[in-house]
Amino acid sequence: MHRMLALVTLMASLLSAPAWAASPQPEFAENGMVVSDSREASEVGIAILKRGGNAVDAAVAVGFALAVTHPSAGNLGGGGFMVARMADGTTFTLDYRETGPAAAHRDMFLNEAGDVISGLSRDSHLASGVPGSVDGLLRALKDHGSGMISRNDVLKPSIALARRGFPMSRSFASLLNGYRSTFEQHPGSAKSFVNPNGTPWQAGDQFRQPDLARTLKFIARHGRDGFYTGPVADAIVAEMQRGNGIISLTDLAGYESIYRDPILGKFQELEIVSMPPPSSGGVHVVQMLNMLAELSIADYGWNGSDYVHRLTEVQRRAYADRAEHLGDPAFWDVPVAMLTSPAYAKQRAQEIDLSRATPSTAIEAGVAAPREGNDTTHYSVVDKDGNVVSVTTTINLSFGSGIAVDGAGFLLNNEMDDFSAKPGVPNAFGLLGNEANAIAPGKRMLSSMTPTIVLKDGKPFLVVGSPGGSTIITTVLQVILNTEVHGMNVQEAVSAPRVHSQWMPDVIAVEPRALQPDVIVRLESMGHTIQEGSPWGSANSILIDTRGLWGAADPRQSNSYAAGY
Ligand code: DON
Repeated sequence: MHRMLALVTLMASLLSAPAWAASPQPEFAENGMVVSDSREASEVGIAILKRGGNAVDAAVAVGFALAVTHPSAGNLGGGGFMVARMADGTTFTLDYRETGPAAAHRDMFLNEAGDVISGLSRDSHLASGVPGSVDGLLRALKDHGSGMISRNDVLKPSIALARRGFPMSRSFASLLNGYRSTFEQHPGSAKSFVNPNGTPWQAGDQFRQPDLARTLKFIARHGRDGFYTGPVADAIVAEMQRGNGIISLTDLAGYESIYRDPILGKFQELEIVSMPPPSSGGVHVVQMLNMLAELSIADYGWNGSDYVHRLTEVQRRAYADRAEHLGDPAFWDVPVAMLTSPAYAKQRAQEIDLSRATPSTAIEAGVAAPREGNDTTHYSVVDKDGNVVSVTTTINLSFGSGIAVDGAGFLLNNEMDDFSAKPGVPNAFGLLGNEANAIAPGKRMLSSMTPTIVLKDGKPFLVVGSPGGSTIITTVLQVILNTEVHGMNVQEAVSAPRVHSQWMPDVIAVEPRALQPDVIVRLESMGHTIQEGSPWGSANSILIDTRGLWGAADPRQSNSYAAGY
C-alpha cells in the first residue's frame, strides 16, 4: 500500500516539477528594495526611499502601511522586532513585543481544576498583551531615521490608504469573508471588516477604514501619546471593559520598547546578526548553524535523506532547549552564551546518531550552567547607502483575537497565547514551555520571530525573516542554508519547499514536494515520522551582492511583493 502511494507521488512529481525548479528570478534594483506581504506597503516604502529617507524611515512607513493593507498580521495593536545594520557598521535591535498587563497572572487561563480553558488565550479580551508596535516604530524613526522624513511623512500614506481605501485582491477578499462570523461577534470588528452592504467582499471592492484613518491621524499629530494616552487609549480600555479584558490606561501609558544587543553567530564565511530574547529565533538559528557545522552539513545535497536527518536532529534538540530555557530575560536567566556557543553545539551534535532518529521523548534540554549573567508578517528593506532593516511584526494568529477596538479601527493581538498557560500544554503552534515562559505582569511572552541580517565579508549579504509561529526559526535557517550551502539565488532559496521539526510533536513536517518519495522511504526507515502539510511562512528577503539588490517575495503569500528602484 505504502509503495503504491510512493509510486503515485513519484509519477506526480515527474509530471510537474517542484514550483521552484523553474529557477524563479528575484526582483533586481540598484538603489533600494522593499519586500513585504503587501504590494501597497512595499510601494509606500519605496516612495519614502525615493524622497531621500533611509531604510529605517521606510521600514517605519511600511509598518504603518501593513496595519492598513494587511490587517491579518500588520498592526497597531500588536508588537514586533526590528534588527538593523546601519551603513556605518553599527547594529541595533529594537524589541517592541507586547507585555502582560499588570492584572495578568500565571494561572489566568486555567479553571478551578487547573485545566486550560479552551480559547481564552486566543479569542477573548484576555488574549491581548499591551501593544508595542506604535512605540517601537516611532522610537526607531526618532533615533535612527534620516531626519529628512517626519512622523507626518511616514504616516501620511497609511492615512490615505485607510481613508480612501484600496482595491481588494481576490485572496484578501476571501480571507475577510472566511473570518466574517468571528468579526460579527464584536461591534468594532464588524464595522471595520464586514462589508456594510451585507454581501461577501469581492475582488476589486474598495476597502476603506475611516476609524483606522482617524487613529493614524492621532498618532501623526501626537506621536506615541496619540495612541497610549487620550481618545485611542480610552477606546482600548472601553473595549476591554466590554469584554472583561484587563489592559488598563496605566498599562498603556507605561509601555516601552527596548533596545537590545543582537545575537551574533558565525557559519562558514557568514556572520549572523539576529534577534535576542524575548525572541527565541536568533539564539536557535545560531545554535542550529553551529550544530550543522559540526555535522558537515555542506557535504550533503539539498533535501536528501542524510541532509534532512541532520536538520531534524538539530532542530529537535534546539526546540527542547527552547521549551526549557527561553523566556523574557527580565524575568528569567536565559543561558544565551551557553546555547549559542560552539562548544555546546559540539557536545549536543555528538549525541546525534547519524543513522537513526532519536525519539524526541529521549531528548532533554541541555543543563544550563548555574546563573550565567543573566498571522505575523516579515519585511526587509535596503536603501542606497547600505542601511539594512529586517522587521517581523505580529498580532499572533490571523487577525489576532479577532477583536477590533470599537471606534478605533484596529485589531487587538492574541499574543498571551505565546506564554505557557500551563507546563506541558502546547500553545497554538504546538510549542511547550515551562517556568521560563510562565505568565507575569509586565513580562514579554516568548517569541519565535527571527528578523535576521546575514553579513558576508563584513558586509550585509542577506536580509531574512518570516511569519509562521514555531516554523519561523527553521524557515530562516533553511533560507540561509539554501543560499550559502546550495548556491540558490534568493528567489529559489525563498521558494524552495521546506521541512520543519520542533522536538514535540515528534514528526518532520514537510511542505508539498519538499522530499522525493525515496527520501521519505529512507527517512521512515531511519525512524522518522513524516507529516505532509500545507505550505507555511512568507520569508520576504533581500540578497545584496556586487551587482545590486535582489528582492524575493515569498510566493506562498499571494500578495507578497518586491518593489525596487
Ligand atoms: O511571536 C511569535 O512567535 C508568534 N506570535 C508568531 C505568530 C505567527 O508567526 C503567526 N503567523 N503565521
